[in-house]
Amino acid sequence: MTKIVQPPANTLVEGISSEELKSVAVEFVASGPDGVRTFRDYMGFCLYGEGYNGPRDPTEIGYYTSGRARIGSGDFNTAPELSPLFGIRVAHLITNRWEQMGKPAGFQIIEQGAGNGTLAHHVMQELHHSSPDLAEEAAYVIVEKSPVLKRNQQALLDGSRVEWKDEEEVSDVTGVHISNELLDVFPVHYLRIGPDGITELQVGTDGQNLVETWGNPSRPLEFAAYFDLSGDNLMPGDRIVNLQMLEWLAATASKLKDGSIITVDYAPQPDQKIGLVAHYGPEGNKPGARYEKPGELDITTQVDFAILKKFAERLEFERVEVETFRNLFGRLQNNPSDIARERDWIMRSSRLRCQMHSQHIGDYEWEFIGHKALILQKSSNQAQDG
Ligand SMILES: C[S@@+](CC[C@H](N)C(=O)[O-])C[C@H]1O[C@@H](n2cnc3c(N)ncnc32)[C@H](O)[C@@H]1O
Repeated sequence: MTKIVQPPANTLVEGISSEELKSVAVEFVASGPDGVRTFRDYMGFCLYGEGYNGPRDPTEIGYYTSGRARIGSGDFNTAPELSPLFGIRVAHLITNRWEQMGKPAGFQIIEQGAGNGTLAHHVMQELHHSSPDLAEEAAYVIVEKSPVLKRNQQALLDGSRVEWKDEEEVSDVTGVHISNELLDVFPVHYLRIGPDGITELQVGTDGQNLVETWGNPSRPLEFAAYFDLSGDNLMPGDRIVNLQMLEWLAATASKLKDGSIITVDYAPQPDQKIGLVAHYGPEGNKPGARYEKPGELDITTQVDFAILKKFAERLEFERVEVETFRNLFGRLQNNPSDIARERDWIMRSSRLRCQMHSQHIGDYEWEFIGHKALILQKSSNQAQDG
């Protein structure tokens, strides 16, 4: 029976206080070129301790790497934490793909950025329930950057056939690469287009506090290529530039021999621009929170699926699609007993009101509003077929 998983209590790294985190952040920015860091580098430091080479273990600094991130239990909710339905749908998508591919041997399910391990847990349970032959055949591999979250995943998934690998160890994949809310935590550059040109947000210090400054663009050629790809009209305003998302897509595509990449994330509403850097955590809404609580809050951005799609179209995929969450995952089963079970979960998940945009729509569909998925498909026969 599929059960709703309670997120494990994260193992917090002891011995690093808010004051120390802030003073380490001040040292970090002060030791950057000209005493500043780009917002991108500051975000990488806050989330993962990236770039830090002081006396502490860098993983103790980052919100994700230290285990301070409380996913599904305080800071923010994600689709796997809201309901097992998400994992069930992902399991069905994976099964369909496996069948379409002719049930190849050596099939792998790679999940990158697995948080508490909840999605893996639900996917494995559903595969055992509805596709036992695939559950038997498939290797489930998690690629996780946070050592603490990895330990939590290992505790939850103890006894199941899941392996953990570093990103570099993944290659020649025949199977499905899945990620949920991974791209929104990639560190981004923050640019401002003004009448006198483009400037980039930097973080500096007045000696005690972190302060914002603006400087010349750190990677002008890459930013120009990004704007070119997105068809940006360069009208005045702020821009979020997620170069890591494109680098990730190119690298992940090159590792996929045969199969699919599915990445799910939150996207801007039709009338919104990607210009938002949101903070989650108990004090996330306070002005200046991102500079007051380095390493203690999530910093995240919406994902620009239009640019991801355009970039994917340049790579060798036979299918490149962006789907709404509702179209891809939102339909209930036809089987009446499954409908009863699933409606029960929807009712429960709709009580988890932390995530404001979570609700069920109508009787037979559910939705995670604003979330979308990029679906890419590659076949090793493509060259011969094409
Ligand atoms: C917002 S959480 C989402 C967790 C989970 N997928 C969910 O939906 O609940 C982002 C996750 O991605 C991980 N992460 C961030 N960058 C990563 C990378 N480059 N490779 C692997 N994991 C990464 C974080 O440590 C965390 O587990």
